Amino acid sequence: MIVLGIESSCDETGVGIAELNSDGSVTLLADEVASSVDEHSRFGGVVPEIASRAHLEAIVPTMRRALDAAGISKPDVVAATIGPGLAGALLVGVAAAKAYAAAWGVPFYAINHLGGHVAVDALEHGPLPPCVALLVSGGHTSLLHVRSLGEPITELGATVDDAAGEAYDKIARLLGLGYPGGPVLDRLAQTGDRHAVTFPRGMTGPRDARHAFSFSGLKTAVARHVEQAERAGRPLSKPDVAASFQEAVADVLSLKAVRAALDTGVSTLVISGGVAANSRLRELAEERCEAAGLELRVPRPRLCTDNGAMIAALGAHLVHAGAEPSGLGAATDPALS
Ligand code: KG4
Ligand code: ZN
Repeated sequence: MIVLGIESSCDETGVGIAELNSDGSVTLLADEVASSVDEHSRFGGVVPEIASRAHLEAIVPTMRRALDAAGISKPDVVAATIGPGLAGALLVGVAAAKAYAAAWGVPFYAINHLGGHVAVDALEHGPLPPCVALLVSGGHTSLLHVRSLGEPITELGATVDDAAGEAYDKIARLLGLGYPGGPVLDRLAQTGDRHAVTFPRGMTGPRDARHAFSFSGLKTAVARHVEQAERAGRPLSKPDVAASFQEAVADVLSLKAVRAALDTGVSTLVISGGVAANSRLRELAEERCEAAGLELRVPRPRLCTDNGAMIAALGAHLVHAGAEPSGLGAATDPALS
């Protein structure tokens, strides 16, 4: 059974193709992504209208590339992200998915983007055991309890303000490093001293919610540090600021993720979403999971950021779990939980 997944919730037009094997495992056959990130960079963030238009231009060529790469003329199932995401961007991918499904005469499955970020790990490490997933992207920072992909996912906690990726993007802008901030800051941090400045670890006090996050205090602390250096005429080491900021983010994320896994009694932690590509987060999570006796599963960086493979992976899982197709009437939902 071959499942084609379309992703268009933000600035990446992704088409992935996966094969569902009879034992429930999934094999990746194609993963094509066209990004409009360069068109947004001069605005310092994603411009929804530009993203929608870019999806419209990219969807058919990206479909063709994915079908060619997989060596097929049509799949058995089409799946697409229906939310959460940008309204216009979602509409382009879902309209295309329904049109292809109708023309090919194959079923359509509506996919939750966030579930896709978790399910993608099955492409790399095999079927998912019960786990806690730390989902860290530009729009979300949540701890999820996943019993199995066929059952509803429980949110244990989430950020009360900025998402971790959003904090990266804002600090990169403050330091004049461009957009998106995550990869640039990550690279710069590797040349700095992570102990140079001790930035606050939000939501880690004894009275704070165990599974919630907050990054706005950290963002303000970094901004104040930069301002003070400028006012005093002190030279500012951007690598040191980047490394110290990154340490604060990775410290809190890994600490809370391990804690949630132990609280829930699962033995596997999955980290996914764009920020899961972060080098220091991967390193710290590995150390802490080993110390706690947990299995850590982190997809390779390319699968952590938005792509169509993750949508195909979750679509394949729904088919395997016996879920009914959504039908062509399924609507997009930009605020899908
Ligand atoms: O999952 P994703 O591609 O899109 C959303 O669904 O948001 O995540 C994008 C986010 C951006 O904020 C980007 O700055 C961040 O992931 N990111 C990183 C790294 N690579 C991407 N953050 C930290 N370190 C990285 N290496
Ligand atoms: Zn995403």
